[in-house]
Amino acid sequence: MGFPEIRLRRLRTTANMRALVRETKLSVDDLVYPLFVRPGRGVKEPIGSMAGCFHLSPDLVADEAAEVADLGIPAVLLFGLPESKDDRGSGAWSEQGAVQSAIRAIKERVPGLLVITDICLCAYTSTGHCGVIRDGRVDNDATCELLAKVALSHAQAGADIVAPSDMMDGRIAAMRQALERNGFDYVAIMSYAAKFASAFYGPFRDAAESAPGSDYSGTELRDRKTYQMDPANAREAMREIELDIEEGADMVMVKPALSFLDIIRRARDKFDCPIAAYNVSGEYMMLHAAADAGLLDREVAMMEVLTSIKRAGADILITYHAKAAAKLLK
Ligand code: PBG
Repeated sequence: MGFPEIRLRRLRTTANMRALVRETKLSVDDLVYPLFVRPGRGVKEPIGSMAGCFHLSPDLVADEAAEVADLGIPAVLLFGLPESKDDRGSGAWSEQGAVQSAIRAIKERVPGLLVITDICLCAYTSTGHCGVIRDGRVDNDATCELLAKVALSHAQAGADIVAPSDMMDGRIAAMRQALERNGFDYVAIMSYAAKFASAFYGPFRDAAESAPGSDYSGTELRDRKTYQMDPANAREAMREIELDIEEGADMVMVKPALSFLDIIRRARDKFDCPIAAYNVSGEYMMLHAAADAGLLDREVAMMEVLTSIKRAGADILITYHAKAAAKLLK
């Protein structure tokens, strides 16, 4: 049997008909909202490169977290800025750091909201790299030790999930061991397992003041390509994910989302653990800029983008659109 007995348009006749046959449904339960914290009190400054996003001090981040929780969003992802930077990024594991203080403030105000913390050194090192530099290279093993200290300090402050985004080899094992040895067996690890060296992190690096320093121009350290993945490599992404799961990651992430939907799908087909996708700053601002220019409908484009990431196979959507999307999904 074929046309005219079979007419697929019959399933598209009305909004209710389309809802009935919809294969992929977004839910607020899928969303994670990123927040940027910086030291101080009473700070709420708009981030120039990222529309609708703010730098918040730990006292005000709790208000924002309460609003996020009221929208039904289950989790926030915290990024921090330090008081000052040094070679090793020591501000990252300070008990009084902005992230550590923000975790405590959020847990006091909205205990049920999941707090995920980004674990990386790039916002804390004077070099702008995600690790420590020795002899002109990012020293993998020395960096892993420091990252484990950062993860531990976030766990001590009350983080539910730590999310390493540095792309060093072996960091998941180092963190899992540090957490187990110190009584944080219940703290989960969401690994940025397949993180690609991407131009789409541009607006974020302004927000986190974390771009590699200009002294490295003309060297292999001018960008993050010696640790973040080559966007051309899909099979290697599966190896990265597999290793992180073996080392003890509870969930894995693919990042960015939109130019890597095929990687999300491959990961979904191959692995059974929860898969997160990060709809990154450049993807977010590209949509905003086009909407501001009157070129597309912001809300419709946003929901189409988020649906595509979920359809590709992601369970967890980390997105700066989370609040706007949650309002539409209510
Ligand atoms: C830190 C980190 C980055 C992002 C998340 N964690 C930037 C980078 O790797 O340079 C990007 C997030 C975004 O663009 O929204 N390593």
